[in-house]
Amino acid sequence: MAILVTGGTGFIGSHTVVELIKENFEVVILDNLYNSNIEVLDKIETITNIRPKFYKADILDKEALRKIFSENKIEAVIHYAGYKAVGESVEKPILYYENNVTGSLNLYEVMSEFNVKTLVFSSSATVYGDPAKLPIKEDFPLSTTNPYGTTKLFNERILEDIYVSDNNWSIMILRYFNPIGAHKSGLIGETPNGIPNNLVPYIAQVATGEREFLRVWGNDFNTVDGTGVRDYIHVVDLALGHIKAIQYALSHKGVEKVNLGTGNGYSVLQVREAFEKACGKKIPYKIMDRRPGDIAECYADTTKAYELLGWKAKFGIDEMCQDGWNFSKNIIK
Ligand code: WQD
Repeated sequence: MAILVTGGTGFIGSHTVVELIKENFEVVILDNLYNSNIEVLDKIETITNIRPKFYKADILDKEALRKIFSENKIEAVIHYAGYKAVGESVEKPILYYENNVTGSLNLYEVMSEFNVKTLVFSSSATVYGDPAKLPIKEDFPLSTTNPYGTTKLFNERILEDIYVSDNNWSIMILRYFNPIGAHKSGLIGETPNGIPNNLVPYIAQVATGEREFLRVWGNDFNTVDGTGVRDYIHVVDLALGHIKAIQYALSHKGVEKVNLGTGNGYSVLQVREAFEKACGKKIPYKIMDRRPGDIAECYADTTKAYELLGWKAKFGIDEMCQDGWNFSKNIIK
């Protein structure tokens, strides 16, 4: 029996595939390579000595999905495939709703046709909007401020309705905070296309000399030093959270929403400092105006993840930056 990982050559997907193989799961990967490349398969094989079965396919192609389910005995799905750039989603909402919602509906429909009703869904802390208090608990009010976040919220609602219609489903909705870092081998990590939107990939490009300085989007927030505070989590910790979630889902029915964060918040300037320590270089920066839609502070209450899944993040900000730099320093553009 195999686990199908959609988006399995992506940043978080590839790290989860490595940990699934280490746990002796058989893995099948579906990816359209829109935001990743096929070389990641070679890296997964180097790390694990196993080359997962790979299908270059799009979740918008129902026949391709049916082919995968008919050729493999899939027992569960971890669903990462989706577009994830907040800014791009504001410019191209139709593209995001088609890919992230219609594509996901195709997957859920084909899963149902093949009686595969165990799913781990990749959601995001962005569904909490601007939280009224901190740390954020799973039962906090949900609101979104951009199409990307709304596609995550729509998927959560769809999955809840699927469970109401058929109690044989087992669904884990995992809300990620800010994934950073890379596998300790330095072979897999985050390889953003174009100008990185996210903080740490941008800092890494300042460290490699590709960017001149870090633009700090605002220092007038009500936070420790005025810059935005986020709950950064090591991508390997995040991957391990998925192993716990799939193991739980394979033995329980129902829908569970779980925060995957560390419970600690770090400001932009604190992350910059940690990255300077990790790479041994200065990271020059300039304070700019706020980025539209940015909230001041966001970090997770991690109680449920520990009580339900027995999972807790292990790596701190220094190790996240060291492992991230160990990967990024080798990226030659
Ligand atoms: C972090 C902090 C910025 C870049 C986004 C998505 C979220 C999730 C993670 C997918 C903020 C500041 C950033 C820069 C900066 N993605 N910053 N200069 O916005 O918390 O979350 O990525 O699920 O859905 O919304 O992450 O890394 O973009 O920003 O000052 O060049 O760093 O203002 O305070 P964010 P981020």
